[in-house]
Amino acid sequence: MSAFRIGQGWDNHRLKEGRPLILGGVTVPCEFGLDGHSDADILLHAITDALLGSVALGDIGMHFPDTDPQWKGAASERFVQHALSLVERAGYRLVNVDSTVILERPKLKDYRASIRENVARILRLPGEDVNVKFKTSERVGPVGEGLSAEAQAVVLITRHA
Ligand code: C5P
Ligand code: MG
Repeated sequence: MSAFRIGQGWDNHRLKEGRPLILGGVTVPCEFGLDGHSDADILLHAITDALLGSVALGDIGMHFPDTDPQWKGAASERFVQHALSLVERAGYRLVNVDSTVILERPKLKDYRASIRENVARILRLPGEDVNVKFKTSERVGPVGEGLSAEAQAVVLITRHA
């Protein structure tokens, strides 16, 4: 296996009134949130898929089927930590993560530091190795119309010394 590998992840969830808006494990105050079987944290789901992808271990649904009651309402932190342990078991360590959350509103920039710090804590990385970007969809498409939100993530891993 190569000294470096990359992984990519993407997720989207519908928005629903009365649901919590949890991004990177941080609850953002809002009258609507992300609908789903788990806590619907699109950012952590995208990061989980990126980690699994980096070691060619399929995707989140293979490891955490949404039909399995043990994952109902699960904190997505557990998905990330399990995927990270699989990366480590394969002989690699995480180098850095870059990510984008695409959500029309609310503005997320006031939560950037806390989301970044929490993602870094979950991944056991220094904050400087984690980046979280926010974008609107310019009022176009399902995200732009406020029906859904998306997240994308890429990770770099390197072989243990
Ligand atoms: O999508 P757009 O390019 O208009 O976003 C401009 C900036 O607004 C982003 O770079 C980001 O800092 C911020 N933003 C935000 N919360 C969102 C979307 C964008 O804070 N939901
Ligand atoms: Mg998801």
